[in-house]
Amino acid sequence: MAELLAGKVALVTGSASGIGRATALACAREGARTVVSDVDVEGGGETVVMIESLGGEAIFVRADVTDEEEVAALIQATVEAYGRLDCAFNNAGLEREYTHPADRFSEEAFQATIDTNVRGVWLCLKYEIEQMSEQGSGAIVNSSSIAGLVGIPRQPVYVGSKHAVSGMTKSTAVEFAERGIRINAVAPGLVDTPLMERIYASNPDLRAEADSWQPIGRPGKPEEIAEAVVWLLSDRASYVLGHVMAVDGGFVAR
Ligand SMILES: NC(=O)c1ccc[n+]([C@@H]2O[C@H](COP(=O)([O-])OP(=O)(O)OC[C@H]3O[C@@H](n4cnc5c(N)ncnc54)[C@H](O)[C@@H]3O)[C@@H](O)[C@H]2O)c1
Repeated sequence: MAELLAGKVALVTGSASGIGRATALACAREGARTVVSDVDVEGGGETVVMIESLGGEAIFVRADVTDEEEVAALIQATVEAYGRLDCAFNNAGLEREYTHPADRFSEEAFQATIDTNVRGVWLCLKYEIEQMSEQGSGAIVNSSSIAGLVGIPRQPVYVGSKHAVSGMTKSTAVEFAERGIRINAVAPGLVDTPLMERIYASNPDLRAEADSWQPIGRPGKPEEIAEAVVWLLSDRASYVLGHVMAVDGGFVAR
């Protein structure tokens, strides 16, 4: 059976944990030589070991997506290691003061959220597009969210940051289609990852309530998001671009 990403080089930011790790594993399973990147060196190393134990090929490159020099060096390291960059998942992101009302949200949390979720995706896009333009081909998936498709009470800045990701996805998809670059986003619903564990830890009543938000009646698994990302990155999605794909157990269909 053909692997979806056979012969390709894939980069996944934020792949020391959660959805990013599951996607790095799925990229490697589908035949891609995979660059695992994160600020978490230990977790990133673990992801590489997991890929290698499944017979895949991967390297870890530490990069903070909010640092332009580090992002530029990440793309350079990818090309030095594997010769090109075919697929990129701009997944690194964070939550801060997740359920705070807008009028009590701190300036510090605002800056951190926007810096990582918006500026970080933008910087990655910038250097990935530069490399893919030289090659004349490439596929990028950005990490948006259901919070990038609809409004959600008590998450004003996270929702704003993910709407920005959805918007950047559409604009860059339209702009760079003629260079052979396909750009899409994935919009996960609530997914069981360390990010959600942190939110539940500070909001104990939320877990039971959250399950009922999704018509499917349960949270997603990181692997269920990874399957959608790998497909969007693959040539099987050759006519899909500028799409923000909900993978959310029906959350936004309500
Ligand atoms: N879990 C969910 O329910 C959910 C839902 C919708 C969208 N998302 C989005 O999915 C993405 C992954 O989330 P997750 O739930 O797997 O979270 P997670 O916290 O488990 O993993 C995020 C990873 O990103 C890394 N990271 C954070 N800031 C970084 C930076 N500046 N540079 C490089 N790496 C950085 C972290 O070290 C971590 O390894 C995020 O963009 C998040 O907003 C998650």
